[in-house]
Amino acid sequence: MVKRNSCVFISGKGSNLKNLIIKSRDSSFPINIKLVISNDPNAYGLRYAKQFSIPYYIIDTKSEKYENFLLVKLKEYKISIICLAGFMKIISKKFIKNFNKKIINIHPSLLPKFKGLNTYSRILKNREKISGCTVHYVNEKLDNGRIICNKKFSIEDTDDQKTLKIKTQKLEHFAFPQALIRVFNKN
Ligand code: GAR
Repeated sequence: MVKRNSCVFISGKGSNLKNLIIKSRDSSFPINIKLVISNDPNAYGLRYAKQFSIPYYIIDTKSEKYENFLLVKLKEYKISIICLAGFMKIISKKFIKNFNKKIINIHPSLLPKFKGLNTYSRILKNREKISGCTVHYVNEKLDNGRIICNKKFSIEDTDDQKTLKIKTQKLEHFAFPQALIRVFNKN
């Protein structure tokens, strides 16, 4: 199969990045990761880019020029899909329009519930019984694009933010690869 070139955007730990790098080494997985972008020079996840010899760039989202820089790099590396894997900055409408290819995001809730930040505390405060994660296409509205797949678990009375995060991220590592397979293999 022809693998598509992808770029993964991160801001922190990079557990989804690591998982996608490992999955992408399988010849039947639909993407190769050609580029990693971080808005934080200290993001722990950058070590996976280094470890697996994937080119990476740090962007300064305060600079007005960063989106143009990104568009140039995305073109240079012939990127067909951007995976937002814990990227904690909002991507502008202009960037989405100019990139004009697929952008997908993973979010730690069952969208459309709990869009935005501080997801776990809001889930607990709302006394939800079920939670999970969602992979969706990115459009100009926050956490609002078409859902590609989600994964669910039951919340126990003993769960706190820490355990919710552990349970959610465990499922994310199944959901993100599955979403990419769905995007490209249409199943
Ligand atoms: C993931 O749990 C992802 O759902 C969340 O950031 C975490 C990144 O973890 N994303 C958002 O909250 C986006 N609004 P990772 O760096 O270990 O992959």
